[in-house]
Amino acid sequence: MPKTKKSGRPVAVVTGAGRGIGRGIALALASDGFDVAGVDIDYEPADKKQGLFEVKAKAERRGSRFLAVRCDIADLAAHDGALDGIVKAFGRIDVLVNNAGIAPKKRADILETAPDSFDRLMAVNARGAFFLTQNVARRMVAMTGSEKAGKGPGRAAAVRSSIIFITSISASVSSTSRAEYCMSKAALSMAATLFADALAPRGIAVYEVRPGIIATAMTAPVKDKYDRLIAGGLVPQGRWGTPEDVGRAVAALARGDFGYSTGAIVEVSGGMNLRRL
Ligand code: NAI
Repeated sequence: MPKTKKSGRPVAVVTGAGRGIGRGIALALASDGFDVAGVDIDYEPADKKQGLFEVKAKAERRGSRFLAVRCDIADLAAHDGALDGIVKAFGRIDVLVNNAGIAPKKRADILETAPDSFDRLMAVNARGAFFLTQNVARRMVAMTGSEKAGKGPGRAAAVRSSIIFITSISASVSSTSRAEYCMSKAALSMAATLFADALAPRGIAVYEVRPGIIATAMTAPVKDKYDRLIAGGLVPQGRWGTPEDVGRAVAALARGDFGYSTGAIVEVSGGMNLRRL
């Protein structure tokens, strides 16, 4: 283990923090008293207008320390280096948010699902997040009893270790034009259940957040379709979700407000979970 630096603020690792939902989560946590390690495959220090370094500047203006980390979560061999760097910079990891994920490059009917797209989505969305979680959980377990959050400012002072999986309503809702996406999210949802079970006695809470239709680069190519569906009443609350909607829900979980609810599934979908007649 590398030498660690002690910090009064709890530390959250957010994957896919450079844009979209991950950016919303990173900034919500920064506002809530966390130091943040933002992990992304896209890493452009020269670009301050978008990406990790735009998020870093914004988080720092909110009083957070922010470490930009380049890592492809599908590359398991890169996990140790990324996590060692975070522990070296901040001294510990209190919260992991598994947000990084990809959609199929092309939507295709299930009878046309291509094996390479299937493998890629599983590698990033399910396999990468599973093994990153395993790695972080080992470090959290090793840390238990030695050092805990508790001195930081604001409500985050009471934070305990937790792991949050950003899955999707697609973990249970069928979209036959992107079977591999739905299957990867269903697998990730089970990972959340398994880790919740295994880590409960070790004092680590695990949650699943299922966003619905959120306005990001991922959904930009299907914007017109979803505009029509939302106008037609698909979403009971009648609007697109935003990264800030998801960020606020994750922050509530991360700061410990649901401390006796490990394994909980929180849907952030404007009511798409409602069965309606
Ligand atoms: P996005 O495509 O806008 O952003 C994803 C971020 O993750 C990007 O910064 C990207 O560079 C990064 N990333 C991608 N692959 C990576 C890898 N292998 N290693 C590290 N970083 C990687 O996507 P969006 O919409 O913000 O989605 C974030 C998460 O939320 C994904 O897991 C997605 O499946 C999920 N989600 C999104 C919904 C939506 O409507 N946008 C709905 C439900 C779930």
